[in-house]
Amino acid sequence: MTSDFQQHTNNSSGKLGSASNPLRVAVFGAGPAGFYAVEELLKQQEIAVAVDLFDRLPTPYGLVRGGVAPDHQKIKAVIRQYEKTAARSGFRFFGNVTFGENLSLSEILGYYHQVLFTTGAEADRRMGIPGEDLLGSYPATVFVGWYNGHPDYRDLQFDLGVERADVVGNGNVAMDVTRILARSIDELAKTDIADYALEALRESKIKEIYLLGRRGPAQAAFTNPEIRELAELAGADLVVKPEELELDEVNREFLVQHAAEQTHQRNVDTLRAQIAKGEGSQPKKIRARFFVSPVEVLGKEGVEGLRLEKNRLVKDGTGVFKAQGTGVYEEIPCQLVFRSIGYKGHQLPGVPFDERNGIIPNQDGRVIDPATKTPLPRVYVAGWIKRGPSGVIGTNKSDATATVQVMLEDAAQYSAGEGLSSAPDAIPALLAQKQIRAVTFIDWKRIDQIEIAAGKKRGKPREKLTTIAELLAAVN
Ligand SMILES: Cc1cc2nc3c(=O)[nH]c(=O)nc-3n(C[C@H](O)[C@H](O)[C@H](O)COP(=O)(O)OP(=O)(O)OC[C@H]3O[C@@H](n4cnc5c(N)ncnc54)[C@H](O)[C@@H]3O)c2cc1C
Ligand SMILES: NC(=O)c1ccc[n+]([C@@H]2O[C@H](COP(=O)([O-])OP(=O)(O)OC[C@H]3O[C@@H](n4cnc5c(N)ncnc54)[C@H](OP(=O)(O)O)[C@@H]3O)[C@@H](O)[C@H]2O)c1
Repeated sequence: MTSDFQQHTNNSSGKLGSASNPLRVAVFGAGPAGFYAVEELLKQQEIAVAVDLFDRLPTPYGLVRGGVAPDHQKIKAVIRQYEKTAARSGFRFFGNVTFGENLSLSEILGYYHQVLFTTGAEADRRMGIPGEDLLGSYPATVFVGWYNGHPDYRDLQFDLGVERADVVGNGNVAMDVTRILARSIDELAKTDIADYALEALRESKIKEIYLLGRRGPAQAAFTNPEIRELAELAGADLVVKPEELELDEVNREFLVQHAAEQTHQRNVDTLRAQIAKGEGSQPKKIRARFFVSPVEVLGKEGVEGLRLEKNRLVKDGTGVFKAQGTGVYEEIPCQLVFRSIGYKGHQLPGVPFDERNGIIPNQDGRVIDPATKTPLPRVYVAGWIKRGPSGVIGTNKSDATATVQVMLEDAAQYSAGEGLSSAPDAIPALLAQKQIRAVTFIDWKRIDQIEIAAGKKRGKPREKLTTIAELLAAVN
């Protein structure tokens, strides 16, 4: 079998972008943004491009593997598109290679004409309230990574032998976390949830899950199919407080202003439809609460409850609809808190970073020096690390395509040897010299087959290998 490391030719003479001297691009981050960018680069007819796609994990697909909920298998079908991209001539995958740790920016710029960062937003936003770090209070990011078998989180332990959990936030990640806590084991057992997470959830005693929105049902960030799914779960009731679904004048104004986005009204309608069900009859309860902000996680050694401040919706001087505290408080007992209030990018060594927004500063995808606002030559960004952690998988396609257009515009100005100080094909040798076991796409397909075969035995779509050691052992 020929390794996909050997596809590229060593000949770098001739016009840049010709078959003998393709535009060489390194992409760091093999999530949706990375794959959409690679597709756009490799489908060019006018210019020959060769792309090396790196990821810090031995596995590709970013949050499609490590974020998308296991009970949403259909969403993962998007991987078939990425497989077609990986089959294009000019593509190589180098998994298990971490930018900033294994390769630096100055080093990589010696091997490639252009570098593109698509490293996503892997950190989390904090609530900034007392008690946030008590045992039992976690960011959703780590719980999601844990149940999805992400190697960074697989060794975590969550005490699910408690009765009440609170999920803070009203986005789709909060929906995912709530659903995974509320679903029956029989339902979860048919998914690709990590085996250890399935076993821990099998022992779960959680009966009540509070879903806490700081604004109202009309402003919730979740989409309508997601809240309907919670309302239709087999073993859980979605319970609402009718008074929190009554809309005052400011809320009605919000709905009028946002009438073009039907999600808002639909979400209100879906939640109002729960009123008639009251407490319902299912063993688990999902209690959707609105206009409440956690102000303190209560407890001594571990989480014992949440102190909430009731909010009202106000429209500020700039026209933004915000939650404003009313000075009225309540306490709810709980033993677990998952804050699901948004992801955040983190800085890559040697690459400019906008700490406030958690992104790589850029203009239309060209990475800029924040002090001078001038572009860093040959360095680009796409996906969540370009625009922040919002948007579904498909949003990254237009985003990555736009960055690639800018890259191609810039490349048209380059001379034949632009920037390259080392032979482009020296990368596998460099990695070997650094004793890094880079995982090729052929290697990944081997892991893929092993996981699918292991899953088949258990009636699951796949049983993921969840440690770096297991993943590398599978390809060695
Ligand atoms: C929990 C969750 C569930 C979601 N579910 C859905 C859903 O059901 N449907 C939907 O449409 N959208 C969903 N989304 C949104 C979707 O996943 C994102 O829009 C998309 O994944 C962002 O793509 P990205 O490529 O920018 O980042 P990512 O998917 O995060 O990919 C970034 C990649 O970069 C790699 N990386 C990071 N640092 C380095 C480094 N230093 N060196 C090398 N590689 C590195 C990471 O390992 C990762 O593979 C979900 C998001 C989350 C958080
Ligand atoms: N099924 C799917 O398609 C799916 C699944 C998962 C994720 N995704 C996508 O991935 C992206 C990220 O999702 P996400 O859920 O992480 O983020 P998100 O959609 O931005 O939602 C974040 C939520 O946190 C709330 N919040 C922020 N700060 C808070 C604070 N200090 N206190 C209380 N609440 C706070 C926000 O409320 P405010 O509105 O008041 O700011 C909002 O409800 C989204 O675009 C999402 O649609 C999609």
